Amino acid sequence: MIRIQGGRPLHGSVAVSGAKNAALPELASVLLSDRSFKIRNVPDVADIRVMLRALEGLGAEADFNEGDVEIRIPGINTCSVPPEIVRTSRASILLLGPLLARTGEARVSLPGGCPIGDRKFDFHLEGLRRMGARIRVEDDFIVGRAPRLRGIDYTFPGVSVTGTENLLMAACLAEGETILRGCAREPEIGDLISLLRGMGAQIVSEGNDVIRVQGGSGLAGITHRVIPDRIEMGTYLIAGGFPGNDVTVEGGDPDAVTILISALRESGIRVESNGNAIRVHGADRILPLNVETEPFPGFPTDLQAQMTTLLTQAEGESRIKENIFDNRFQHTVELGRMGASICVDGDTACINGPTPLRGCPIHATDLRASAALVLGGLIASGETVVRNADQLFRGYENLPEKLRGLGAQIRVEKE
Ligand code: EPU
Repeated sequence: MIRIQGGRPLHGSVAVSGAKNAALPELASVLLSDRSFKIRNVPDVADIRVMLRALEGLGAEADFNEGDVEIRIPGINTCSVPPEIVRTSRASILLLGPLLARTGEARVSLPGGCPIGDRKFDFHLEGLRRMGARIRVEDDFIVGRAPRLRGIDYTFPGVSVTGTENLLMAACLAEGETILRGCAREPEIGDLISLLRGMGAQIVSEGNDVIRVQGGSGLAGITHRVIPDRIEMGTYLIAGGFPGNDVTVEGGDPDAVTILISALRESGIRVESNGNAIRVHGADRILPLNVETEPFPGFPTDLQAQMTTLLTQAEGESRIKENIFDNRFQHTVELGRMGASICVDGDTACINGPTPLRGCPIHATDLRASAALVLGGLIASGETVVRNADQLFRGYENLPEKLRGLGAQIRVEKE
């Protein structure tokens, strides 16, 4: 659990770690080659550890040291990814495409039920089926077979980040050309494309939602540096916006959080960008906002919960509409226990502020909700105890240490 003594202002600088959601598919792409890889700037978070364990189970020789993963999969021991390894992370689905492409077989444990809503994977399966794979779901496993995948012209029925990544990776070893339309455009996909190109894959992406891949074989190993984590960066930028705070976030990519910076400015918070450093001056008076989550470049669903906490301190009524997931407002119940006034109607949360928050025991339901609750604890009076804090460590590297560096009183205790 995480114990926070609230009410201490945050001052100073904090550095951004590598992006979890870029590193995950990049580690999965190592399956496409039998060569050695060095992937730098990998965040040491639980979801990455799970991915490494799953790859080791498949035959990877891996070493993870101070952000550098050295990894090689000379041969595949088994095509099965068991539930006991991947239960806590949905990223196991990312192994399906590359495993099928490399070996012609895959048996991947179904991604577990996720507390943020019905997270489907039908586009992944449909795309791989069109590439010639026979896929069935059996005994909680996705089981696939494909002697050789072949290129397709596929239009995603909806925008999917890991769906785009899965088909993109599979297409690199498929026979002939694949054209993927309606792709997600998140920066993590751009980073995956740059890793795959470095391996020798022929990929053309013109910055729109169409990606063309000329399939081949014999992909090389490379050294690659993972992009900074825009969601972690956004979380600290939001933290900086509360009254009395003054936080500089260093080492991130300001272009990846343009929409957040605009939202913060619109709410009266002063944000200064200087190269890769962004300084946020907490505002005494925060204005209410209307925010709607969208695929990139829209407002990220992964910052919705943290923004909700900020808007509990805005003067008047704010509205947040969640368009990506159908059950991603569970943090609002816990924030309500702390004194926030939030009412959720379907896909929209209405927040009335400002309301002082008071510390109490609260329960983290998912990764980003736990970050939102920590932000609540930092501004609350008295002590906040966040239970189920393992959720936080799935995706935030050294968060308590980083916040302590800014002056927060926060520590981790055994639950
Ligand atoms: N969807 C389908 N069918 C599919 C795939 C998706 O209907 O085959 C729907 C989903 O149910 C959802 C929407 O499409 O309503 C978007 O889902 P998407 O596939 O884009 O989500 P994801 O790839 O499973 C990634 C991130 C999430 C992030 C979302 C949206 C990774 C490993 N995960 O998930 O990150 O919220 O994109 O940006 O990249 C997090 O880091 O906290 C996190 C949840």
